[in-house]
Amino acid sequence: MARHLITSALPYINGIKHLGNLVGSQLPADLYARYLRARGHEVLFLCATDEHGTPAELAAAKAGMPVAEYCAELHEAQARIADGFRVSFDHFGRSSSPRNHRLTQHFAGRLAELGLISEVTEKQMYSNADGRFLPDRYIEGTCPNCGFEGARGDQCDNCTKQLDPTDLINPYSTISGSTDLEERETKHLFLRQSQMREKLQDWIDSKSDWPVLTTSIANKWLNDGDGLQDRGITRDLDWGIPVKKGTEDWPGMEGKVFYVWFDAPIEYIACAQEWVDAGKGDNWERWWRTDRGAGDVTYTQFMGKDNVPFHTLSFPATILGSEEPWKAVDYIKSFNYLNYDGGQFSTSRGRGVFMDQALDILPPDYWRWWLLSHAPESSDSEFTWENFQQSVNKDLADVLGNFVSRVTKFCRSKFGEVVPAGGSHGATETALIDELTTRIGAYQDHMGAREVRKSAQELRAIWVAGNEYLQTAAPWSTFKEDPDTAAMQIRLALNLIRIYAVLSAPFIPDASQAMMAAMHSDDRTWPDDVPAALQTLAPGHGFSVPDVLFRKITDEERAEWEGRFAGRRD
Ligand code: MF3
Ligand code: ZN
Repeated sequence: MARHLITSALPYINGIKHLGNLVGSQLPADLYARYLRARGHEVLFLCATDEHGTPAELAAAKAGMPVAEYCAELHEAQARIADGFRVSFDHFGRSSSPRNHRLTQHFAGRLAELGLISEVTEKQMYSNADGRFLPDRYIEGTCPNCGFEGARGDQCDNCTKQLDPTDLINPYSTISGSTDLEERETKHLFLRQSQMREKLQDWIDSKSDWPVLTTSIANKWLNDGDGLQDRGITRDLDWGIPVKKGTEDWPGMEGKVFYVWFDAPIEYIACAQEWVDAGKGDNWERWWRTDRGAGDVTYTQFMGKDNVPFHTLSFPATILGSEEPWKAVDYIKSFNYLNYDGGQFSTSRGRGVFMDQALDILPPDYWRWWLLSHAPESSDSEFTWENFQQSVNKDLADVLGNFVSRVTKFCRSKFGEVVPAGGSHGATETALIDELTTRIGAYQDHMGAREVRKSAQELRAIWVAGNEYLQTAAPWSTFKEDPDTAAMQIRLALNLIRIYAVLSAPFIPDASQAMMAAMHSDDRTWPDDVPAALQTLAPGHGFSVPDVLFRKITDEERAEWEGRFAGRRD
């Protein structure tokens, strides 16, 4: 039995995420967590909402709510939806927690002590009317390039030119509308990542088993142009973690908060503390401190590719830089993007399916199966309704669902709702057992290697093998001449249902539960010994015919959903 720490990238607080976000982090992380638990390992699976930064402030303002209240509400909503997808977090925390405040301030203090933080004086726009420095995004004006009037201080949305607030013509504050702005000197903190370049390069180079997607992004940032740049880690915002050196005030940094990307990954650790505070565990240090037992933990992070630089460079610079015995990540599993029907998901245009909408139209297993079996691992992948309909109808309804329904109904009509006795295995059964043994071995290898698509393919092949066996053995014709052999065949098939329930649980937990309930069993012993697993439900053991496990998606539904989620055209 091994110990596994698993985290999925912390979803940003400003709204409900779309299916592309789900498949790049929470869902594959959940698959892995469920698999490892099923194999008897000890797992701690953590996630949280990422609550600071300008987008949170802006979203709260748009919703007309105080930002703390907005975050509390959206946190609950995201927790509820993750639960709706059966994502089995051990704890779903908040980056705004007091624990994260303390830990973030601790890291900053420690890094400053070790000379890894520099104080830089820069010029920044100050708004007299608002009485504060304005972050770039809080300043708008006319674009010097194209004349667009609503250009933001960081970029013009019309011509996409990257801007500096000082480039804008007639700049004004988006908070008050005031044009009474002036440049003033202000101090900011920078994390001296450049000092850590070699240490980080050696660390990345030691990870020869990481996905190329992960290491290539890390290496690009380490080596492109001037190499790894120092990074500003403070901002002029109200909402965030106040800049402190440990528990001490930081002279010159009054009124400033840490940059969201500095405090967010630290929440991975703080979340384990919150998990203890919530009474769900009693020792976070044995997961996070190598001097307190975390040395034998395997730590895997799941995320979309846009998050890779922060997880391969900035966060490691923070924890390696502290020279304290924190547990560093062992494996970073990153994903490409999921596109939506010939384009991108778009929050602003309401294009694509968002997590809450998905659950309004179909139960979680339908989505889990499609998303995971089409995870954008080696390249971007694309959601189309046609492909979704086809996968659900074929894999889930025709292959798995139909197997369960045929076997249980046939048995009920010929032998009643109990596992029948009957003769012994013949050549067809031996061949099936061999095939299942090989395939389950392959399935375990892929799941252990976090190869999501390959695992799904192997699982599907395992379901198909059962159907092919049923076709070949044809108990409904065998029954006429040789009811004893038919009974053996159906006993095997009933046992296969329990095996399928156990193997499939990481992908489709609800259907797995329904299959176990139909088999009147809670024996989730992993079927690595196939002959033994086929004896689990003994003759005389009762079962029930379950309701339809998976229904088919009709062409009418498909057409309706296609229209409903196409988004506004502009
Ligand atoms: N909120 C970020 C995103 O949605 C991910 C943050 S991951 C963390 O892209 F580790 F930094 F928290
Ligand atoms: Zn422009």
